[in-house]
This record gives sequence, C-alpha cells and structure tokens, in this order.
Amino acid sequence: MPETGLCGVPPGKPLGLPLQSPRFVHDSFFRDDRPVCKITDQASRRRTDKTRENVLVSGVRSLNTRGDRQFVALRASAAFSADVNGFLGGSLGKMRRDLYHPLRIGNLRLDGNLFLAPAAGYTDGAFRSICVEYGANLTFTGLVSSESLIRQPAASVGLLRRAENEKIYAVQLFGASERVMAEAAARLAPYRPCLVDINAGCPAPKLTRYGAGAALMRDPDKLARIVEAVVKTAQEALGGIPVSVKMRSGWDADSVNFAECARAAVQAGAALVSLHARTRAQGYSGKSCWRHIAELAALLPVPVAGSGDLYRAEDAALMLEGTGCAAVMFARGSFGNPFVFAAARNLLLGKEPEMPDAALRVGTALRQLELLAKAIGETGACLEMRKVFCAYIKGLPGAATLRARIVHAETIAAYRSLLQGFLDSGPESGNFAETP
Ligand SMILES: Cc1cc2nc3c(=O)[nH]c(=O)nc-3n(C[C@H](O)[C@H](O)[C@H](O)COP(=O)(O)O)c2cc1C
Repeated sequence: MPETGLCGVPPGKPLGLPLQSPRFVHDSFFRDDRPVCKITDQASRRRTDKTRENVLVSGVRSLNTRGDRQFVALRASAAFSADVNGFLGGSLGKMRRDLYHPLRIGNLRLDGNLFLAPAAGYTDGAFRSICVEYGANLTFTGLVSSESLIRQPAASVGLLRRAENEKIYAVQLFGASERVMAEAAARLAPYRPCLVDINAGCPAPKLTRYGAGAALMRDPDKLARIVEAVVKTAQEALGGIPVSVKMRSGWDADSVNFAECARAAVQAGAALVSLHARTRAQGYSGKSCWRHIAELAALLPVPVAGSGDLYRAEDAALMLEGTGCAAVMFARGSFGNPFVFAAARNLLLGKEPEMPDAALRVGTALRQLELLAKAIGETGACLEMRKVFCAYIKGLPGAATLRARIVHAETIAAYRSLLQGFLDSGPESGNFAETP
C-alpha cells in the first residue's frame, strides 16, 4: 500500500500554493489591529475540516482577493520537520530575519520569543537556569497546586524557587476554584514572578477529575472567571504582572474549542495564550495540529505561544513562519537539550545552528546536577537526574552502556567518574561500550 500522509495526502505533497511571506498572513488576517480572520472559502473549509486533528500543517497562506479571505492549509507532511530546508525554499538563508524578535506580554517586555514550556518534573530551577544560559527568553515552572500553595506552602517552595540567573520567570498554577486560584496567586508575591500562568491543559485525571487542568476547557465561563480572579490579584498583589493561560486544542476530537476558550480568557484579561495543539484525549502522543495555532494566532489580539512537536531549532522556525504565532515553547525537545535555544536563535537570525559536542553535553548535564544538588540535596538530585542524563547523552555512541551504569550512580562523584571515563574513551569513537 502506498504511504499515505494524513488525510490521505502523500507526505510532503503540497496541498496548495507555495509558502508566502508570513507577514502576508498577518496583514491579511488583521486589519486595524482587529482580528478579521474567517475561513470563508468553501473549498478550503472542506479541506481544513478534513485535516482537523491530525494533519501537520506546516504552512498557511492567506489570499486577499476582492476582499475575500481564504485560509489555505498548504502542505501536509508526515515528515515535514526533516524537510525543513526544502519547505523554506531550499535555503535556510532565505528565511525571514525577524522571526526572532522582542515580545510584549501585557507590561512584560521580553528580549526574544523562545520559551521553555512548563513541564512538571523537568523545569525545575536547575534546568531553567541552564536554559536561560542558552537563550530561553521566558521560563515556566511546572504546575503548582493552588490548593497546596495555600494549605502547605512549604511543600511548594522547591517548585517555586527562582534560579539565580533567572531574571524573568513565570509560575504556572492549577486549580478549579477562582477563589483558591486568586488566593494562591497572592501567595506568589515573595517569589516575584513576572507572569502567572493558568494551567488549562493538563490531561492527568487527578486534576481533571475535580475540574482543573484540561477540564477547564469544558467550561469556558469558569475558565474566564478564574482568569478574571487571578488578573485582579495580579493587579492588587503582584504589581500588575500579566496573566496567561496554557490550553490544549480541546477536550477531545469532538470538542475542539480552543478558540472559544482563548477568546473567553482574553476577554477576562489574559495577556498571552499558549496553545499545546493536541486534545486532552491525545495526551502527548500523535501529532500536534499546528493549524490550530495558526488559527489562534490570527484570531487573538494578544500574543499566542505555540507548543507541540518542537524538537529542533528548525521546528521553531517552521512554527513561527508557518503559523504566525508570536512565540514558541520548547518542551520535550529541550529535555537534555537546552542547546536547542541557542540553536534556534542562531537559525532564526540566519546563522548556522551549532551542534553541541559530547564534552559540552556531558559537562552541561553535570552542571545541572550540581545546581539541582544545591537546591534539593545530593541524593535526591542524583536520583532525579538519571532520566535527564539519559536525555543528554542520547544518540552518542556508547550511550546505552553509559545509561546502564548511570542508573546506579548515587553520588555526584560517581556521576563524574562515569562521565570522565565516557569522555576519555572518546565517545565519538564508540569505544565506551568496551571499557570495563
Ligand atoms: C513530562 C512533561 C511534563 C509536562 N508538564 C506540564 C506542566 O506542568 N504544565 C503544562 O502546562 N504543560 C506541561 N507539559 C506539556 C508541555 O508544556 C508541552 O505543551 C507539550 O509537551 C507539547 O510540546 P512537545 O510536543 O514539544 O513536547 C508537560 C509535558 C511533558 C512531556
């Protein structure tokens, strides 16, 4: 059977016209600063309906003829990220130079638009610090429970502590009650966050069961009430910092309502909406639907940050260029790979992205371990860093052997000696597997 791409289109086959400048998308979709995006063209509406949920849209184009606006998904490709060079016209050098740009979120001004996404269990202070070093312009804590912030504030201190080099960071809260969320936001004052993010995307049943996380998308009015309450607290107790919402495409394929939820959130005062373009039902599997990001970016008067399937610098370029979103959020693509921020910035600025060598990868992992040990103690850090080290060394010759040994390392000294042995064996040579 021939390989069919999503919606039956062979991977890589253009659905429509060649990519135009994304400024064209913006100009056509926004007039006088008001969103005017509508999918009015019957043929393209059918096409977008067909592609709903599972097509990777790697380009959008707006045509503006006789005042008609069309929204055309250009190209569906199951492997578009490998095809980035061709997609961008055969030469990365042709990419627009202003894809990396300063960004305003409410009264917060960022130097650039590359974010570290919130990721519970990964985006602790140590990792955020390393990502800032490599160029992340905004970092998010993993989700913090509004209930426990009020009832047992000490339990959240570790999650909330700001890294030394972290001048700008965002705290993500989850909860289902506007009163509790507002009160929890007020408790953030000593941490001086620059932004409070509301989680409306976590698919874990332990959150959704009581109406928090992605369950908020089932009740846009409630989501709006929570945003309004947190915005009020941010104004009264946190110096007027902006409030954002991170959401999914919807609860499941039958209720894709990101546009409705985002509109409600923005009307309630959200200054940024981040969209993880998968449904709650998809969890973290399947492809994210970047068309949703393009639709939202065209719809909202506030910046949209895109999330989903950003693994390499080229993916950031594609998402920014293809969807018109204001910022991108690296999540799994940054685990063990904080270098992706520097690579993405270089690429967006028209420079060659640099590949970190084995010594840099191992050395950075060790630094992260040391930072984490300072924060939570050596034993906990060594345990916690096992999964992260595996991500740092992924793909290096001898990584499997190193991985098998690292899972037994219980001290920083043990890590250091294992890693030194690995480097001394010349990881590029693949000799490590033979060392005793
Ligand atoms: C291990 C893990 C933990 C995550 N924790 C959070 C979280 O605490 N809050 C949140 O909004 N999203 C969380 N996410 C979702 C990510 O922020 C991101 O939206 C998602 O992984 C899609 O991006 P990706 O496909 O590039 O990984 C988490 C994802 C992973 C893989």
